[in-house]
Amino acid sequence: MDILRGERLKGLAPEAINFISSISHDEPLIKPVIMINQAHMIMLIEYGLVKREYGIECLKALESIPLDLKLDPKLEDVHMNIESLVIKKLGEEIGGQLNLGKSRNDQVATAIRMVLRDYILDIISNLIKLCKTLIQRCEEHLETIMPGYTHLQHAQPVTLAHHLLAYCEALLRDGYRLRDSYKRINLSPMGAAALATTGLNIDRNLVASLLGFDGLIRNSIDAVSSRDFAVEVISNLSLLMMNLSRLAEELILWSTYEFGIVEIPDEYASTSSIMPQKKNAVVAEMIRSKTSIIYGDLIASLSILKSLPYSYNLDLQDLTPRIWNACNIALTSLMVMDGMMKGVKFNVNRLKDLIKNDMLLATDLADYLTQKFGISFRIAHRIIGALVRRAIENGKTLSEVVGDLSKFIEEITGLKVNVPINELKDVLNVEKAVEIRKVIGGPSSFEVIKMMDYYKSEINGLENWVLECKSKLERSFTLLHNKIALLRGVGS
Ligand code: ARG
Repeated sequence: MDILRGERLKGLAPEAINFISSISHDEPLIKPVIMINQAHMIMLIEYGLVKREYGIECLKALESIPLDLKLDPKLEDVHMNIESLVIKKLGEEIGGQLNLGKSRNDQVATAIRMVLRDYILDIISNLIKLCKTLIQRCEEHLETIMPGYTHLQHAQPVTLAHHLLAYCEALLRDGYRLRDSYKRINLSPMGAAALATTGLNIDRNLVASLLGFDGLIRNSIDAVSSRDFAVEVISNLSLLMMNLSRLAEELILWSTYEFGIVEIPDEYASTSSIMPQKKNAVVAEMIRSKTSIIYGDLIASLSILKSLPYSYNLDLQDLTPRIWNACNIALTSLMVMDGMMKGVKFNVNRLKDLIKNDMLLATDLADYLTQKFGISFRIAHRIIGALVRRAIENGKTLSEVVGDLSKFIEEITGLKVNVPINELKDVLNVEKAVEIRKVIGGPSSFEVIKMMDYYKSEINGLENWVLECKSKLERSFTLLHNKIALLRGVGS
C-alpha cells in the first residue's frame, strides 16, 4: 500500500516517478533523517503526545535502519522511505506515529543543514591544511627572489614566500566566510512542520538541542521556505574556488617551458597519448574548470529561488544536489591542491635568471631620485622612463645605462647634478630592493616572517573553532543516544 497517496490519489504516472523523486541525491540525508525522527520521537514521548510504548517501538525500529539503505523512487524520497520502513515493521497503528507534528518540509530543511554543517567543518579543516602547506613552502623560500608581476609583466621584485602568502591570506578569508555562514546554518527548522507549526504542544528547542543546533529558525514559514543559507555557502565556495583556480592557473603558467618556474609533481600531472615529452598540469586544469561548474551551481540555486512563492515548493528539491556538488568540488579541490603544493618543485635557478632583468628596479631608481635630489616622483618617473627607453633601444640592462642618468636629469629638469655611481649600484641591487621593503605586508624577510606568524595564529584560532564545533555536536549526539538508550532500557 502507498502510505502517502492512500485513498486520496491514484498511482503516479510511471514516467513521473523518477522525475519527481529526490532519491538520486538523498543518500547523504539518510543518517540525519533517522536522527531527526529519533529526536522528534523522544520529544513526543517526553511531552506525552504519543504512548510511551509506541514511541519506544518507533525508536527501536529507527535504530535498526541500515545507513546504506537502498532508496525506492516510488516512495518519492528519503523521508517516505524511512517512514514506510518503520510502518512496515511496526504496522500503521504504532509506526504511523512517526510523522505526528512534523512534515517532510521541516525535516528536509533540517537534514540539509545537518549535512552542510559537517561539510563546512570538513572544508575548513582541509583549507587549514592547505594554508599550513603554503606556509611550510614559504619557510623554504623566504629569500627566493622572483619578479612580481602586474599585467603579467615584470613589475617589482618580491619573494616566492611573499607571493605564496598572498594565497594564504585569501584562503583565510574564505575560511572566515564559511565560519560566519555556520552561524546561520546551525539553526533548526524542526517544528515548523509543513509551514504553520502544529496545535500540539511540541518543544522545538528540545529537538534542536538533541540534534546539535545552536538555536531555531524562528518563523515557521521561513523555516521551510528558505535556502539562502545554502546559496550563501555555495557563494562562499565559489569565492574559495575562484582563489584556488587562480593558484591553479599560476601553476599551469609557471610550469610552461616559457616560464619554467615550477615542476608539477608527477602524481598531479599526466602525459600525452601521442607526444611522449608532455607533462600536463591536468589536476590544476580540473580545479580551473570545476570553478566554472560551481558558478553554475550558484546561478542554478539563485534562479530556483528567485520567483518561488512562500512556503515550500518542490522546486527546492532541485537545489539540494547543487549544494552537495559545490561542497564535493571544494573539498576535493582543496585536497588535491594541498598534495600538489606539498610536492611542487620551485626552480630557484630559473628565478635567479629572471631577476637578472633589472628593469624590475626602475621604481627604486625613481624613488632614489626623489630622496636624493628632491625631484617630484612624477618627474623622476619620466627621467627613469627615458633611461629605460634608452636601455631597451640599445639592448642593455638598466645598470648598463645608468651612466646617462645625470644627462637625462639635466635634459628633463635643467638640474645639473652628479649621481654617485656607487649609490646607484646599491639601488640596483635586487636583494637590497627586497629587504628595504619593510612596510607592513611587504616582501622583506622580516615582514614575511611576521606575516607568517600572524597567519599561523589565525589558523590556530580557526582550527580550535572547528574542534569546538565538533565537540559540541558530539555532546548533543551523546545526549540523543543516551536518551534513546534510557527509554529502550525502561521500555524493554
Ligand atoms: N524530497 C523533498 C525535498 O527534497 C522533501 C520535501 C517534500 N515535501 C513535499 N511537500 N512534497 O525537498
